[in-house]
Amino acid sequence: LWVVRGSPPTYVLLWGIILNTAMGCFLRIFKDVETNCSIYTLWLQARQVCGIIHRAATSWNLSYFVSKWASVWETYAKVVKHMQQQTEKKVMLSGIKPSGDLTLGSYLGAIKNWAARAEEFECYYFMADLHSITVRQNPADLRRRTLEQLAQYIACGLDPEKNTLFIQSHVHQHAELGWVLNCYAMFGELSRMTQFKDKASKNADNINGGLFTYPSLMAADILLYQPDYVPVGEDQKQHVELTRNIVQRFNGIYGDVFKMPEPYIPKVGARIMSLTNPEAKMSKSENEDTGRVCLMDDPAVIMKQFKRAITDSDRENCVRYDPEHKPGVANLMNIYAAVTGKSYADIEREFDGQGYGVFKPAVGEAVVECLRPIREEATRMMADKAYLESVYRAGAEKASRVAQKTLRKVYKKVGFVAL
Ligand code: TRP
Repeated sequence: LWVVRGSPPTYVLLWGIILNTAMGCFLRIFKDVETNCSIYTLWLQARQVCGIIHRAATSWNLSYFVSKWASVWETYAKVVKHMQQQTEKKVMLSGIKPSGDLTLGSYLGAIKNWAARAEEFECYYFMADLHSITVRQNPADLRRRTLEQLAQYIACGLDPEKNTLFIQSHVHQHAELGWVLNCYAMFGELSRMTQFKDKASKNADNINGGLFTYPSLMAADILLYQPDYVPVGEDQKQHVELTRNIVQRFNGIYGDVFKMPEPYIPKVGARIMSLTNPEAKMSKSENEDTGRVCLMDDPAVIMKQFKRAITDSDRENCVRYDPEHKPGVANLMNIYAAVTGKSYADIEREFDGQGYGVFKPAVGEAVVECLRPIREEATRMMADKAYLESVYRAGAEKASRVAQKTLRKVYKKVGFVAL
């Protein structure tokens, strides 16, 4: 310190080193918390530190320096936290299994709403290929569908610049955290999952362990990204509830490791039922549903599907919204409303006095026009594999960075030796 005080050239040199180191530290920490901090705040921080160093140096008082240093870190942590809260958008994450082609139901019920969210939320969407092998898949189909799904997401308006789009198996942390969480999900809990019971009864010859532990992998998918919201359909709510139980259990043992996620059931977004069975959700799997319309279907196929859509056996042959007594018509109205933006009353007026013979093809036409640009864009992208690869590479990179941070924390908490 006497050097600092005594000789101006050394003084300048030392200041240079100190400033540089301080800035370096801050930048590293800022990078680590991934906060979009302004250079100005950095500068203020650096100035505060330098001021303290300066005063310590000029007053020859080392203990002053040491005591202030602690308070600098404290302020610093507060600033970082505050900025994080201010600048960080709420995080949202969702996945779809590429085990069937995306349908009109997936589009109107989910994906369509995703595009508009990117401004408000930090969004992660992934192709849940790890999940899809709980039921036997044809490898070539799985590969094609996974890429096709990505192309369709983008064609539906999910901008890869604004959303993180990735393929689940590219981010190895999912499988790793999945294993850990398996050890915090209870046998009884997993046995109560209705999806497991349902799938087990449909795949009696292949009730594998993966089908059973599916929800702990899903919990890992979610928790790796510490999301605030998980947009899911009604059918997945139980899995999100289980995830919440795991969070409570895990955090109860190890402290605040995971953020508690909320299921996010969008207000808008229709629940689209099968065209041949309006009691059941439009399903992605071909063998389960003959009344489905896929995003990549030919217009002629779509028209055929709508023309043979089930309406109701009542005699009135009129377009009226009555989901309880006329579920078939209500479903078609729902679809028509979702693709045209018209209200039920508008639709009733539009088809007043006309029967299902006019209504059904009209819905078909509207759907064809709604899906046309999506199909064309997705087809174009499927021909441009290099582009798709650049998207999923960038997505995997971003996702793994975030996922690794959580996984590292978890490994440390449960007692694994760090490498
Ligand atoms: N289980 C979901 C489904 O069957 C897909 C999924 C996997 C998912 N992991 C997820 C959804 C994480 C939301 C969050 O549709």
